[in-house]
Amino acid sequence: MADRILVTGGTGYIGSHTAVELIQKGFEVVIIDNLSNSYIDTLDGIEAITGVRPAFAQFDICDRARLQAFFEQYTDIRAVIHFAACKAVGESTQKPLMYYRNNLNSLMNLLDGMLQYHIPYIVFSSSCTVYGQPDVLPVTEQAPIKPATSPYGNTKQICEAILRDTVKANEGLAAIALRYFNPIGAHPSACIGELPIGVPNNLVPFITQTGIGLRPCLNVFGNDYNTPDGTNIRDYINVVDLAKAHVIAIERMLRHKSKANFEIFNLGTGRGVSVLEMIQSFERVSGRKLNYKITGRRPGDTEQVWADPTYANQELGWTAESSLDETMLSAWKWEQHYQQLHPERK
Ligand code: UD1
Repeated sequence: MADRILVTGGTGYIGSHTAVELIQKGFEVVIIDNLSNSYIDTLDGIEAITGVRPAFAQFDICDRARLQAFFEQYTDIRAVIHFAACKAVGESTQKPLMYYRNNLNSLMNLLDGMLQYHIPYIVFSSSCTVYGQPDVLPVTEQAPIKPATSPYGNTKQICEAILRDTVKANEGLAAIALRYFNPIGAHPSACIGELPIGVPNNLVPFITQTGIGLRPCLNVFGNDYNTPDGTNIRDYINVVDLAKAHVIAIERMLRHKSKANFEIFNLGTGRGVSVLEMIQSFERVSGRKLNYKITGRRPGDTEQVWADPTYANQELGWTAESSLDETMLSAWKWEQHYQQLHPERK
């Protein structure tokens, strides 16, 4: 019997790519998603790639009674990967209570359920946002946690603390927090990818939507930073590479290879790339000129951050393998594919 893994937020961007990798490794996947920021069609994409349609339950895990009923139905779940959360930095500053309520309650409900139903392992979607603007680059897992720069970032810090304390208090429970840098790209099949609702906040969907003509112009948020070309630097990681790290984290716990009951790993490439370099990559792989202009800084942006992924490389035996151009091309193919399916979109 294949091990059954619960993936919350499994129709979302990283969740759907992880569901694919899990299925391809022989796991049985069950997804919970409330479809607040994703589409049911994603299940078709997962099925097209893997030949398997994962079990799916549509509800909000903030609903404790519904979650309880779910655990009564699926009694053989071996581990949980928890993606479901609100993730827009800007929105979190407008609606902090929504962010705290949703991101904290969902994790606490899940942990309650896991304890009650004896599910021992959880992988948590964390973020490099917990480091703020680090003093030393590249940033290792030992870097001090700075005060969060947004309510969203704060929820990630608090969720890590909730995990740490809960695992400490319960011997039967183990957790791995994966701190992602900037996930980008799409599955090479172009069957699944990032699907921002409305005008994208993130750089790569904005670039590809501008490239395809949906947006007139990309605003580059500042070129007066203390970086070689003046634009912000980030560590952009391929979403399939990222998804694979989740499978490794699950296997690590199932095979009792963890060194501690609570482990943290940075997931990045170890390379810093500027906004202008991202535009150049897009122009190389698409053969199109991108219309962009330099505008003012975006409030709350960190100047530069990139990962030291050595710990994940050594301990998980995982490395981000895809090149930037390969990843950018996958994002571009996905954009073109999606445009063909939905020419009416705005
Ligand atoms: C941030 C958070 C990350 C979080 C993500 C979710 C940090 C360091 N990172 O990523 O944890 O998961 O939001 O949304 O806090 N840019 C433009 N024009 C645009 C869009 C972006 O120039 O239209 C620039 C930004 O100024 C930034 C870079 O592109 O320098 C990447 O931005 P974005 O994709 O939004 O991600 P982060 O803000 O780095």
